[in-house]
Amino acid sequence: MLVSAKDMLEKARDGKYAVGQFNINNLEWTKAVLQTAEELKSPVILGVSEGAGKYMTGYKTVSAMVKAMIEELNITVPVALHLDHGSYDGSYKCIEAGFSSIMFDGSHYPIAENVEKTTELVKVCAEKGISIEAEVGSIGGEEDGVVGMGECADPDECKQVADLGVTMLAAGIGNIHGKYPENWAGLSFETLAAIKEKVGDMPLVLHGGTGIPEDQIKKAISLGVAKINVNTECQLTFAEATRKYIEAGKDLEGKGFDPRKLLAPGTEAIKATVKEKMELFGSVGKA
Ligand code: G3H
Ligand code: ZN
Repeated sequence: MLVSAKDMLEKARDGKYAVGQFNINNLEWTKAVLQTAEELKSPVILGVSEGAGKYMTGYKTVSAMVKAMIEELNITVPVALHLDHGSYDGSYKCIEAGFSSIMFDGSHYPIAENVEKTTELVKVCAEKGISIEAEVGSIGGEEDGVVGMGECADPDECKQVADLGVTMLAAGIGNIHGKYPENWAGLSFETLAAIKEKVGDMPLVLHGGTGIPEDQIKKAISLGVAKINVNTECQLTFAEATRKYIEAGKDLEGKGFDPRKLLAPGTEAIKATVKEKMELFGSVGKA
């Protein structure tokens, strides 16, 4: 069922677990995430970056594919189709295309402009029953060519944006997209606790879920994180499994590579990664 992320995140916050957001890039990725969620009876969020949306020929294609796949695969767990790190224009396009959730990432705007644009989108989303994520304090690392320097969000600014009526709030707490460098200082739980204190019940979102040590993930959940985004780890396991398959050279004779066989090991690797994360986040059996 394609649903807004609101209910699943409120349940996660109350139950002290987190729902995973797994980014999708193609049919195989989508199928792997949906089938794993169904098998584990876990709610799930499919994240679509603007780059991935373009790659898949546009948000309408993504929306139609996901809706059809939910039906044809008999997926019964709650699924949210969510724009990841959306621009202002991208947010409107996804709302029109039938996404059930959006992230408007206004973190690179001055706070007043972030507030203004978020306010407008909160109104549109409320009318349509779509959930909306806002971001305060940029997340480090690179995403679709946009490089954030990584910072800890200001708890007062977090409250200002949370009070606009967003469904969930992503706040920088020292997290970084992609692999964490050797000298990474870890998540700032001090910042997280200060934000939680200010925003009360607002479900918090942890970006850069790849490579955060398990104990830090668990502590973040205990402090109010109800959604955790994972992208790079699926890409890495997909690439590694595909590389091994090609190196084994099984399809190098005869008709050559069968695309379905070629993509199968990577798809299985994504399933394994998603399963591992759902178990760690505690969302198994919560659908
Ligand atoms: O928005 C997506 C994420 O924050 C994913 O981060 O690639 O480090 O897992 P990651
Ligand atoms: Zn992110």
